[in-house]
Amino acid sequence: MSQQAHEVPKVLIADDEPNLRKVLRDMAKRVLRSETWEAADGQEALGLFREIKPDLVLSDIRMPGMDGISLLKAMKQEQPNVPVILITGYPSLEVAIQGMKEGASDFITKPFRLDQLQVILEKALREKRLLEDNEGLKQQVQHKKALEKLNEELNRKVREMSALCSLGQTIAAFPLNRDAILRSLVNETRSAVQAMWVQFLTPHQGGVMTLARSPDQPEGTDVSRAPELPKNLLERALRLRTPILGPRLFLPSDPSAAGGLSKENFSQMVVPLVIKGEVIGVLHAAGKLEGREFDRHDLLLVSELAKRAALGLENKYLYESVFDVLMSTLRSLVSTVEARDLYTKQHSQRVTDIAVIIAGHMGCTPEQIDTLRVAGYLHDLGKLGVKDSVLLKPGPLTPEEFDQIKAHPVIGEEILAPIGFLPEERALVRHHHERWDGKGYPDGLREEKIPLLARILTVADVFDALTSDRPYRPAMSVEKGAAEIVACRGTQFDPAVVTAFMQVLEECAEKVVNRYNGAKREKKEISNG
Ligand SMILES: [Fe+2]
Repeated sequence: MSQQAHEVPKVLIADDEPNLRKVLRDMAKRVLRSETWEAADGQEALGLFREIKPDLVLSDIRMPGMDGISLLKAMKQEQPNVPVILITGYPSLEVAIQGMKEGASDFITKPFRLDQLQVILEKALREKRLLEDNEGLKQQVQHKKALEKLNEELNRKVREMSALCSLGQTIAAFPLNRDAILRSLVNETRSAVQAMWVQFLTPHQGGVMTLARSPDQPEGTDVSRAPELPKNLLERALRLRTPILGPRLFLPSDPSAAGGLSKENFSQMVVPLVIKGEVIGVLHAAGKLEGREFDRHDLLLVSELAKRAALGLENKYLYESVFDVLMSTLRSLVSTVEARDLYTKQHSQRVTDIAVIIAGHMGCTPEQIDTLRVAGYLHDLGKLGVKDSVLLKPGPLTPEEFDQIKAHPVIGEEILAPIGFLPEERALVRHHHERWDGKGYPDGLREEKIPLLARILTVADVFDALTSDRPYRPAMSVEKGAAEIVACRGTQFDPAVVTAFMQVLEECAEKVVNRYNGAKREKKEISNG
């Protein structure tokens, strides 16, 4: 209902005959309980019309100056919904038709009956109110539609922001973890564009390999498996290196109907992940919720997510390549140390190999094994800081000389500290000469205060030294070396590590000692031959 329905209606009366105006005024007041305004000609009436904005106009057709038809036209131009009833003493069809054309609501012919006037007035006012209500409803509907659109837009923005934000957080939290970044990328893409399935694929041996997928178990669909990325679409994305809105995919909606009649179709898009101009994989999204289509907006958003993930991964690759360069420098430094003493050639590699075998047998995690592989190789790096005259001295060492030798674990750790090595990697280098009974160096740590990996490395280090040639004695056999290790169980070495070592002794002998000895023998034979 319009507001005016509850208010006193305003009626404008335009007639050059004062008596008739009075009759009309009385009638309007009695029937409509209205307020009334009166004008003696069209011009005056138009002025009042603009001023009071009436709910109803009663106008004579023939008036001096501006006549009733001209007044009607002017009023309808300004307020088309106001009903205007024309009054005439000279009814003619032409005038009636012209009046209706211009939008008059009704006609009254003079002289008129009061009951007739009452019906016409009430009808005109009712029609006006209906028109107003209708207008109000239309506005409400439009308003509601606008609100719904706004709401949808807002939800979309929230989804976008939260996806970008979550991906950013994952990259910040796991900057070097490719799998975590890709998992976050597929999950956030799925929620941002309301996709049923998203997967990240990488070219592999002429086909593709899935590196991440969301969701693992599809829900809310009859199709149980994620749709495959069509080969031609993959090739296009790889060739053009640009995001593509793909053609709809058609799939059987029920596995039992595969190849049969029942099929569902899904919208899809492909976005390549480009790092330094090279496509490392593609993101494939299929099936927008509620059967809708992915649009340019979705494509732009997923491209943005892919760009951010690419940036995160680029940092990881950059770090890895810098780390590789660093490691190869350190490895060549280790070779320099080993080259100074012919008897320690490849010692670091053998110690690492043995330690990895023992650690694997003791149930160490893949991360711990990695630490052993990286830092195990560098354990004697600090010997760079020990003079040749001391390091290579064949006879017994003076206490000062022995102090110099004992400094090498600390020197090694100090070399690694400023170049980004992890604390556990540095600890391995620092503590590989500690003893279970606390009589080792440099810190005299005992038992479990010594990091486990260092305890493992110590056993591997000593075993390799025993089974290698030394200037003052030939290499011991595997059995004799092992017996020496067992003899120091609980004094120099952690008993648990010695137990594990004895259990993998055969493997150590086969994969490390014999292999290296074999290589050594072959070399000797070639040089002798
Ligand atoms: Fe050492």
